[in-house]
Amino acid sequence: MISGCVDKFYFRFLCATLRLSAFAVKMKSTETIFSELADNLAEKGWAVTDNFFSHDFLKLVLEEEMLLYKSGKFKQAGVGKGTEHKVIIEIRSDYVHWLDKENLSELQQQFWHEMDELKLFLNREFFLGLKEMEFHFAVYPEGSFYKKHVDRFQRDSGRTISCVLYLNSDWKESDGGQLRIYRNDTSTDILPLFGRLVCFKSDEIEHEVILTKKERYSISGWMKN
Ligand code: OGA
Ligand code: NI
Repeated sequence: MISGCVDKFYFRFLCATLRLSAFAVKMKSTETIFSELADNLAEKGWAVTDNFFSHDFLKLVLEEEMLLYKSGKFKQAGVGKGTEHKVIIEIRSDYVHWLDKENLSELQQQFWHEMDELKLFLNREFFLGLKEMEFHFAVYPEGSFYKKHVDRFQRDSGRTISCVLYLNSDWKESDGGQLRIYRNDTSTDILPLFGRLVCFKSDEIEHEVILTKKERYSISGWMKN
């Protein structure tokens, strides 16, 4: 009987450990990461965290993204929505592959789940009423960029929080590809480092992607109300 209980306990412990190691193993607790992120969002409109996803999980996501890219599943990205949508390579020259919510791979589901937790936290904290999310993989080939813009479309006011997760190991200042965030007449450059998650207010924060000198991988998305 006792040994049955112990076995059961051990089994649960093992499941919890495996589940954790499968993806979001965090150096800090999720709660701490979320509340630091929320504090920064409230204070300056943008936030960066480097410890949200585990290294092993990120490596698998990068592999998946590279495979999709190499097998021709990406499209030249455009600007604007619906009938306003246009490819203008003088404005942006990256390639994207949208995640299909009804057809997510296992890794994509795990990613989606974590972002959903963040969304619920932000709703509790700020009463934002965030509902839907949309994400795409993005690849910026060598020489590509995205000129200064805000993410909220003129005719679609839904985009509220923008999130970008970067997947580039060994990235240096001289590789370019920084996310440049503008605020109050100053700007801050953020390197697209492996595992770095940046969130910002979609309607307020002007930003751009500086010309990249190396292929640059990420997932970008929006929480919408
Ligand atoms: C975007 C965007 C920033 C980045 O996709 O709208 O601004 O650093 N991306 O990739
Ligand atoms: Ni943007």
